Amino acid sequence: MRLGVCYYPEHWPEEKWADDARRMAELGLSCVRIGEFAWAKFEPQPGQYDWDWFDRAIETLHAEGLGIILGTPTATPPKWLIDRHPDILAQDEHGRPRRFGSRRHYCFSSETYRRECRGIVTEMVRRYGEHPGVVMWQTDNEYGCHDTVESYSPAAQAAFRVWLENRYGTIEALNKAWGAVFWSQTYRSFDEVDPPGATVTEANPSHRLDFQRFSSDQVASFNREQVDIIRAFSPGREITHNFMGVFTAFDHHKVGADLDVATWDSYPLGFLDLMPLPEDLKRYWLRQGHPDFQAFHHDLYRGCSPKWGVMEQQPGPVNWAPYNPAPLPGMVRLWSLEAIAHGADLVSWFRWRQVPFAQEHMHAGLQRPDGAPAPAYDEARQVAADVEAIKAGETTRSEVALIFDYESQWTHLIQPQGKGMDLLRQAFETYSSLRQLGLSIDILPQSADLSGYKLIVLPGLPILNAGLIKQLKETPGTILALPRTGSKTDNFHIPETLAPGALQPLMPIRVTRVESLRPLVTETAIWVDSERIVINWREHVELPAPDSELGVHVEARFADGSAFWIEAGQVHYLAGWPDNEAAVNIFGVIAKRAGLEPRSVGPSLRLRRLGDLEFAFNYGLETASLKGLVPEDAEFRIGGMDLPPAGVAAWKA
Ligand code: GAL
Repeated sequence: MRLGVCYYPEHWPEEKWADDARRMAELGLSCVRIGEFAWAKFEPQPGQYDWDWFDRAIETLHAEGLGIILGTPTATPPKWLIDRHPDILAQDEHGRPRRFGSRRHYCFSSETYRRECRGIVTEMVRRYGEHPGVVMWQTDNEYGCHDTVESYSPAAQAAFRVWLENRYGTIEALNKAWGAVFWSQTYRSFDEVDPPGATVTEANPSHRLDFQRFSSDQVASFNREQVDIIRAFSPGREITHNFMGVFTAFDHHKVGADLDVATWDSYPLGFLDLMPLPEDLKRYWLRQGHPDFQAFHHDLYRGCSPKWGVMEQQPGPVNWAPYNPAPLPGMVRLWSLEAIAHGADLVSWFRWRQVPFAQEHMHAGLQRPDGAPAPAYDEARQVAADVEAIKAGETTRSEVALIFDYESQWTHLIQPQGKGMDLLRQAFETYSSLRQLGLSIDILPQSADLSGYKLIVLPGLPILNAGLIKQLKETPGTILALPRTGSKTDNFHIPETLAPGALQPLMPIRVTRVESLRPLVTETAIWVDSERIVINWREHVELPAPDSELGVHVEARFADGSAFWIEAGQVHYLAGWPDNEAAVNIFGVIAKRAGLEPRSVGPSLRLRRLGDLEFAFNYGLETASLKGLVPEDAEFRIGGMDLPPAGVAAWKA
């Protein structure tokens, strides 16, 4: 387990570097990420490199024993490069190029840009690849940030046509897959197909889904070009990329497959402000963040690569959310330890010192701009001490698997059918309700090995892979499928036998009609004398004939008598979206039937199992008691029975 920090030697006078490095090591950090935006300093003129200053920066950090994470600088192509090759710029759907002056102003399909990137990355990796201080590489920075995955440039158009031809072989197959007979969208050749932008009203959803798949593949192949160079010239060093929160525009499982470590950038308060949550909850969690947001992403990215970590951990107010409060004292420590409880291999704060100039000069660091410690400085020191005290072992599998899938998410976003309907949101809300039952969860792709899981949750994945269905047929575990599961084919059609389509061999129902509901409209479902609330989404379901081979049992019905909670053997299907209270209640019953031991922890306390340790985190503003959740004689490594706000406890389970 490593602690680190993001550092920009190019922002500070060289006289400060040695003292900075010394203080990093003294704080208990063992690694430092540098370099990811410094292209204009590495190559100030076309083909003229200046590595001397960077050599000295690396030596200075290495001299203090810090392991160096080198970022490739391809998120920020310099001005001279853009002026020479304006075709590098991505274009929006109206064909307008992005402008120079911030970052990520490139098109993933630009062959010119790919060539230039291979050039700078090769120079850099050849120079530093075998340096004893270099422990890891980070490719680029936050692919897709600022809405930059999709581009409608001529290069993207040409590459999209090739991609389509590879996928479909003939234009007839494409026309059929897209249902192009609708509104006379039929194409005569691949050369006639454009990216699906700037249409009068919505473009064909199958066309959009393919464009998203294509754009995602471009990100993966762009990343792979750098990975290949790094593997060739920097043997034994790990490779990561820093993913983001609430971001699904490319398939992170595909990019993650080429990495050794999936990292992500965790900004709990910035993200809380952007979340679609009621105002009272945003006010309550203002300085703590949402108690499930960090954990959800830890578990999501843990499912993307063999190892995972946090590359950028929020240290204080950020600059980019509508409102930017400061963390409650202790929260920076809590967030960092929570990552460790989810098995992080690395936690690294962003950034060492607040920069006094340019776009991010209002963004906090571990130090103030004048070099004095900011409040997070001592919390980072405390985390280093906690890591020693906790002595965490390896992370193990949880007993609950939640399946998340990027293609399925795109179908929701392309055709939500109800405002705000979004698979990521549904997966998150499902996760949150399960965590309120004290459960630890693995978030996995459809292709993951599901053996050993007691409960497998499908949070509304419209497109189901054959491999997943095969595993579901074989698992002795319990399966919970939420509305919209199996509701689309791979081509974005309604399945011939209606939803839940590929799940029907296990859940023999047909969804005959769906409705989305306005925010304050609810439906009632009745279950053993109690009423449950359904929000946002309701389905009308046809049950199999009573004498059919695979029978079903209706556990709860809507007030009008139609089935809501249906059980077929160990498979459960909910024909509506339960609100949080109903979800916690229903999932609790299903969890027990699956042989789990749910424990109710309420809205702000969270538990997490890591090997033989258990952790508790208090996101609330009141002291929380662990009585009843922890054995009386538990041996605490940190914390105790009473957890103050921002408190963390870890004990041997
Ligand atoms: C991240 C990014 C960093 C910095 C940070 C500010 O998205 O990777 O470079 O901009 O946000 O919070």
